[in-house]
Amino acid sequence: MMSAREALSIGSKKLNKKGIIDSLFESKLLIKDILQVSDEDLISSSEIILSETQYERFNSFIDRRKNKEPIAYILNRREFWKDSFYVNKSTLIPRPDTEIVVEMVLSLIPDKDKKMNFVDLGTGSGCLIISILNEYKYSEGIGIDVSKEAIKVAKKNSNNVSKNQKLDFKLADFSSFETKEFDVVVSNPPYVNKNEIYKMQFDVTKHEPYEAIFADEEGLICYKKIIQNLNKNRKYGQKVLFEIGLGQVDPVSNMLKNNDFKIIDIKDDFSGIPRCIAAEKI
Ligand SMILES: C[S@@+](CC[C@H](N)C(=O)[O-])C[C@H]1O[C@@H](n2cnc3c(N)ncnc32)[C@H](O)[C@@H]1O
Repeated sequence: MMSAREALSIGSKKLNKKGIIDSLFESKLLIKDILQVSDEDLISSSEIILSETQYERFNSFIDRRKNKEPIAYILNRREFWKDSFYVNKSTLIPRPDTEIVVEMVLSLIPDKDKKMNFVDLGTGSGCLIISILNEYKYSEGIGIDVSKEAIKVAKKNSNNVSKNQKLDFKLADFSSFETKEFDVVVSNPPYVNKNEIYKMQFDVTKHEPYEAIFADEEGLICYKKIIQNLNKNRKYGQKVLFEIGLGQVDPVSNMLKNNDFKIIDIKDDFSGIPRCIAAEKI
């Protein structure tokens, strides 16, 4: 038996030795999850005693984190937009950058009572389409992914946090999925240039699904496939919103323009990098 304070000190030293800078903060996240206590409760941590099982669990969490496994996978959750989403190793961990896509949809379509049909191409955990449909209660939508495991996660999230009953998830490929019926297409496809893997953090390259992150042709192949497919299934006035990576705003804009889309908005992330692009079919 050990106090939470002692356990935190041991855990944070172990993480620190492995070069984890926010070692105390991260140890607190892990212990709070095990004890199911708030920050406030933890301030009086000298009085909180961990049972043997709780301490073993804490130790196993610390060991996983020492191995650079992201906290989101250890705790099986990550906050995105207004909800907490279940995640596991078959899905990308939702990123704050992707919330810009939600913000952009809201700024382009301010009428939340509008009835629309959305599709999310490469839905992963489902965080994007679930968050959007939670804002537009009269709309409907579908999230597709080529990963069976990701679809399971998205369905679980839909059951847990979706307020919209008209949402479905399907195993499908965005290169050939029929998109004509949709008013709005959103997508955060894999877009990191495969040659840049060495620049990425070990946490990401070792633990997150490679197929969800990396793409051929300098990271642009998925945009190319999606845009060509949208053009085949053309629907005038259809809006498409992509999350994009560093240096991709020009090539993706050009692909859109060359396929009869006009660019209607571009939004930067907090570092000033264009992160989301919106276009409309003309
Ligand atoms: C960058 S992740 C995005 C996940 C989620 N939408 C998010 O923003 O957190 C890209 C997703 O696209 C999926 N994907 C990759 N290639 C695909 C394809 N050809 N068709 C459909 N989904 C694909 C991956 O399985 C992965 O879940």
